[in-house]
Amino acid sequence: MRSTGDLLIGTSPSIIELKEEIERVARSDAKVLITGESGTGKEVVARSIHAASRRASRAFIAVNCAGLPETLLESELFGHVKGSFTGAYRDKAGKLEMADTGTVFLDEVGEMTLRMQGMLLRFLETGELQKVGTDHAGVGVDVRVIAATNRKIEDMVAQGQFRDDLYYRLNVVHFLVPPLRDRKSDVPLLVHAALQQFVGTNGYIVQEIDPAAMVVLTDYAWPGNVRELQNVVERLVVTGRNEVVRVEDLPLEIRGGRGMLRPKKERRRTVADELYKRVVEDRESFWTAVYPLYMNREITKSNVRDLVTKGLEEARGNYKIVARLFNMEPRDYKKFLNFLRKHECQVPFREFR
Ligand SMILES: Nc1ncnc2c1ncn2[C@@H]1O[C@H](COP(=O)(O)OP(=O)(O)OP(=O)(O)O)[C@@H](O)[C@H]1O
Ligand SMILES: [Mg+2]
Repeated sequence: MRSTGDLLIGTSPSIIELKEEIERVARSDAKVLITGESGTGKEVVARSIHAASRRASRAFIAVNCAGLPETLLESELFGHVKGSFTGAYRDKAGKLEMADTGTVFLDEVGEMTLRMQGMLLRFLETGELQKVGTDHAGVGVDVRVIAATNRKIEDMVAQGQFRDDLYYRLNVVHFLVPPLRDRKSDVPLLVHAALQQFVGTNGYIVQEIDPAAMVVLTDYAWPGNVRELQNVVERLVVTGRNEVVRVEDLPLEIRGGRGMLRPKKERRRTVADELYKRVVEDRESFWTAVYPLYMNREITKSNVRDLVTKGLEEARGNYKIVARLFNMEPRDYKKFLNFLRKHECQVPFREFR
C-alpha cells in the first residue's frame, strides 16, 4: 500500500495528543519505541518524528528486522567487509552507516534474536559499528534510533525473549499508537483521504460515500486498522459501479448483516475464504498465491471455482474487475480467462449481475 508518510490527525483526543507528543519528541534525539497493533500507523509516526526533527533533510532508513535470517540482518545493519562470507565480493555499508546523521527505523524489533539484540545493544552503547568480518569496532556513526513492534514487548522481556537492558535503552520515549476501534472519530477522515488517493487515478466512477455507509464504516471494528481501511476503500473504488457508495456496496464483513436481505449465517472458513483473503486483503497476486498451489495439487478445482465465485460476487459479475481484485496486471486478463477455461474453473458471471 502506498503511503504518503503524512500523519493524518483526526478529531480523537488520542491522536491529537500523539501529534503534540511527536512534535515535542522530535526536538530531542531521544530514542523512541513505538508499539501498536498491525496497521495502526507506527511507521507513519516514525517518519513524522524524523520529518519534524533537525535531521529532516538527512536520511530516514527503515530496516525490517523480521523475515531476514540472523546473519543477513547482521550484515544489513552493520555492513560487511569483502570476503567475510560467500558472496561478499566487496565491502558494503550497513543501514546504520547509511543513516549516519539521519534516522534509522528498526521495524519489528521484537523479532530480533537474542544474539542480534546483544549486537544492537553494543552499538547503542558505543555508537560504533562492527562490520561483519572484522574483529574490531570501527566506524562511529550519529543516528537517531526509532524502533517499532506490534508484539507485547513487556511480556517478551518478562519471558526472557527480549533483553531488558536493550528494552530500557530503546524505550526512552514510548508511543502507543491506538487501534482504530478506539478512535472511531478518525475513520471518516481516513476514508476521505484514502478515497482522494485512489479516485484520482485512471477514471474510476466512485466519488463519495453515502452518510449511512460512513456510519457503518465508522462502527466497524477494523481489526487490520488503517491498512485494512485503505484496502477496503481501494476495493470500493475499483469495484464501484456508482458515484456514491451505499451500505449495500460495502463488503459483507463490514456491514455484518446490515443492508442485506438474508441474515449472514455463521460458517466455517473455507479454503476459498483463505485464498480470497490472501489475494484481496493481503494483496498477493493470483499468480503467486493461488496458481502454484493449484498446479501442485495442494488445492482443488472446486477451491479455485469457489474463489472465483467470491470474486464475481464482489465484482458483480465482471471478470475484468475480478482480475484487478486478484492483483493481476491488466495484460494478464486473457491469460487468467484461458487458465480458468483450460482447467474448467470458469463460473458463469450472469447470475452475479
Ligand atoms: N494517521 C495516519 N494518517 C495517514 N495514513 C495513515 C495513518 N495511519 C496509518 N496510515 C496508513 O496506514 C497504512 C499502515 O500504516 P503503517 O505502515 O505505518 O502501519 P504499521 O503500524 O507500521 O503496521 P505494521 O505493524 O503492519 O507494519 C499505511 O499505508 C499508512 O500510510
Ligand atoms: Mg510497519
